[in-house]
Amino acid sequence: MDLKLLTPLKVGETKLANRVVMAPLTRCRTAEPDNVPTELNAEYYAQRATAGLIISEATQISRSGQGYAGSAGIYTDAQEAGWKKVVDAVHAKGGKMSAQLWHVGRMSHSYFQPDGKAPVAPSAIAAEGAKCNIIVDGQHKFVPCDTPRELSVGEIGQIVDQYRNSAARAVRAGFDFVEEHAANGYLLQQFQATNTNKRTDRYGGSLVNRARLTLEVLDAMLEVVDREKLGVRISPYFNINGIADAEPEQMALYLADEFHKRGIAYLSIAEPSWVGGIELTDTFKRKIRETFSGTLIYAGEYTPEKAEAAIQSGLADAIAFGRLFIANPDLVERIRQNGPYNVPDRATFYTEGSRGYTDYPFLNV
Ligand SMILES: Cc1cc2nc3c(=O)[nH]c(=O)nc-3n(C[C@H](O)[C@H](O)[C@H](O)COP(=O)(O)O)c2cc1C
Repeated sequence: MDLKLLTPLKVGETKLANRVVMAPLTRCRTAEPDNVPTELNAEYYAQRATAGLIISEATQISRSGQGYAGSAGIYTDAQEAGWKKVVDAVHAKGGKMSAQLWHVGRMSHSYFQPDGKAPVAPSAIAAEGAKCNIIVDGQHKFVPCDTPRELSVGEIGQIVDQYRNSAARAVRAGFDFVEEHAANGYLLQQFQATNTNKRTDRYGGSLVNRARLTLEVLDAMLEVVDREKLGVRISPYFNINGIADAEPEQMALYLADEFHKRGIAYLSIAEPSWVGGIELTDTFKRKIRETFSGTLIYAGEYTPEKAEAAIQSGLADAIAFGRLFIANPDLVERIRQNGPYNVPDRATFYTEGSRGYTDYPFLNV
């Protein structure tokens, strides 16, 4: 069968070979505390280069913005050089790659903070039940996140600067796109959500104020990245990691409209159903489509069949696959051949080394 999922797509000025996107996936495979991408990371991403677009694992813009030991950074020269090797390896295989830039905010631990202080957030409200990943006795261990402290306005400005710097580094490393991670309960969504942002200054209160930091960061990134190469990820209705936003639809539509005005290349929407959240309705997705005219990428428990239907319906332009891409480096070929698919091993999602990372078999090998 001819699948539209496997047909080319132009995103901004960049032509993707197909609409099968590798979702951003934290895998914790860099060494603490330098968090420099390695040859192993390059091999992992190059194995998956037949994706129309690879979105990198979330990559911190500062040590303070980290919450998982081993997650990659892009704020030092060594990290930038490490990423350049990764991107070169993906390009050598004909792939395209976007850099997802993040700051985890309160989803962190004193382990990562300068002088062992508290992590930072819009307000000093702990993420109930949320876990970070730190190294204890040489092993990765999930532990409760620490209660954060409230950011000052001056510190917020520094974070905006860090996003700009990291975006410039991503461009220098050769990424085809740079993505602002404004989803999944991390710093920018902590500012967006009504229950995590109790500020009384221009970054809190009204919806416009709660959206302000997401847009200030985007505008800073636009100073160093062409709008045709910029994307944003949001997660409307996301309800874990202590997020309980009273206005998820209003926030999503307001942000989508602001992204549209700025003419960015793509909007990536992380659906919350894979972590027990609601199913986003077609009515909601239609409103997003009517508001944002760039490329729309959706992710969350898609099978190839469901992905094809979403693209055929006109609500999505491309679909990002997470766990299927962890286990199937040649996912595009497997979709073309209608399977079979390797099954992902959860136990090695966030561990070290090649096991469960670069050793999933290809078809016919
Ligand atoms: C191991 C793992 C790591 C993830 N890391 C990230 C990340 O770094 N950034 C992000 O935006 N989403 C992350 N996600 C969410 C995925 O991008 C995706 O939205 C989710 O896995 C649902 O898609 P799936 O059902 O195809 O796996 C992660 C998911 C998993 C399973």
